[in-house]
Amino acid sequence: MMSRKLLQISGFVLTSALAVRGQAAVWQQCGGTGWTGDTTCVSGSVCTPLNDFYSQCIPGEAPTSTVTSPAPTTTTRPPVATGNGKLKFTGVNIAGFDFGCNGDGSCTASAAWPPLTKYYGHDGEGQMQHFVNDDGFNTFRLPVGWQFLTGDVEGGPIVAANLAKYDDLVQACLNTGAFCIIDIHNYARWDRGIIGQGGPTNDEFAALWSAIASKYASEERIMFGVMNEPHDVPDINAWAQSVQEVVTAIREAGATTQLILLPGNNWTSAETFVSNGSAAALQKVTNPNGSTDNLIFDVHKYLDSDNSGTHPECTTNNIDRAWAPLADWLRENKRQAINTETGGGNTDSCVQFMCQQVAYQAANSDVYLGFVGWGAGNFLTNYVLSETPTNNGNGWTDSLLVEKCLAPTSGAQNGLF
Ligand SMILES: *[C@@H]1O[C@H](CO)[C@@H](O)[C@H](O)[C@H]1NC(C)=O
Ligand SMILES: *[C@@H]1O[C@H](CO)[C@@H](O)[C@H](O)[C@H]1NC(C)=O
Ligand SMILES: *[C@@H]1O[C@H](CO)[C@@H](O)[C@H](O)[C@H]1NC(C)=O
Repeated sequence: MMSRKLLQISGFVLTSALAVRGQAAVWQQCGGTGWTGDTTCVSGSVCTPLNDFYSQCIPGEAPTSTVTSPAPTTTTRPPVATGNGKLKFTGVNIAGFDFGCNGDGSCTASAAWPPLTKYYGHDGEGQMQHFVNDDGFNTFRLPVGWQFLTGDVEGGPIVAANLAKYDDLVQACLNTGAFCIIDIHNYARWDRGIIGQGGPTNDEFAALWSAIASKYASEERIMFGVMNEPHDVPDINAWAQSVQEVVTAIREAGATTQLILLPGNNWTSAETFVSNGSAAALQKVTNPNGSTDNLIFDVHKYLDSDNSGTHPECTTNNIDRAWAPLADWLRENKRQAINTETGGGNTDSCVQFMCQQVAYQAANSDVYLGFVGWGAGNFLTNYVLSETPTNNGNGWTDSLLVEKCLAPTSGAQNGLF
């Protein structure tokens, strides 16, 4: 609503979107092979090369001069992008059921901590309602350890009582009207053993997904996040075969219309999805009818110096090295991706770079379906990447990064920040 938006931006210094002579306006071209026009950008935006042929003024540089005139009412879309400037899915990870999981795929089932007050966790249900109703989010990713679901038995069947607890969170998500991503948070492993490559068999992995998919087969707003952050998987083609068996199992369980998210190697890095061979291998995964409909690549990217998501300061908007080249590959190959983990500290540098990343993704929404921030749920508000809102009894207060960049109501998708 207008009043809410004005209230949000009134205390915020806005930079003018109007070009002065000799400077390109926000979102306009400012360089590239053969370019003879303006090569500097208006204050508050920075000339960013997207490829050899095209540089563009992207908002967000610390402004050298500012005006406090009203917000621009229109934003020119960048000509390079063919997206409609609005991301289909925006959301937050609601963590807790994955607590106790480590990068080597060891998860202690008893350390899983449901982010629901009925299980003595945080109020994940209230958080999701707030995120939808006040911030305009429409997607939640719900990480869970494989060990929790099978009660620590490798390759074992799902323990009904444990799935029922996890389903409480899934239902709380669905009840908000949002899309809900089921995320098995095991790094392609079970206790160091890689799925299909010495660890659990592909049949065991497919059986897990078959059981989950049959439970949610008629629920259109479920997405199946096959695996969180595979890494150091030696044979990427064998991994693609593991993913193929899961896709087949999900479709054969009757979940024929939902999105399935396919994860690559190197912690699902968006930057190395193509270069380290994940794109070529996962591109071959198909539905049982041979199509690739609703098979979406799952990529992660953090904004700190080593892409680890462990530092409070951000050093990159990831556009040059990750999002722009990946967008080219996706367009060429007629595929799409979703960014199910991204985040940064609640700091000025992260506000700057994250808002740029969000604006870029929105401008390229033909290939980028959306993002899911990391993370809320059971994270404490002093966790370096916390997106956990606080409730003082009269309502919720968001973390800085959610308020300024991630929440659809922030305006960051339109470059209004
Ligand atoms: C990159 O891919 C190679 C081979 O596919 C694999 O051995 C290596 O572990 C991958 N790197 C990371 C960091 O996942
Ligand atoms: C092929 O299967 C996918 C996944 O179940 C489905 O979304 C798509 O509509 C199917 N295509 C045809 C032509 O039946
Ligand atoms: C993994 O990704 C990071 C950045 O996302 C990159 O620096 C590193 O070189 C990648 N490793 C491989 C083997 O591609």
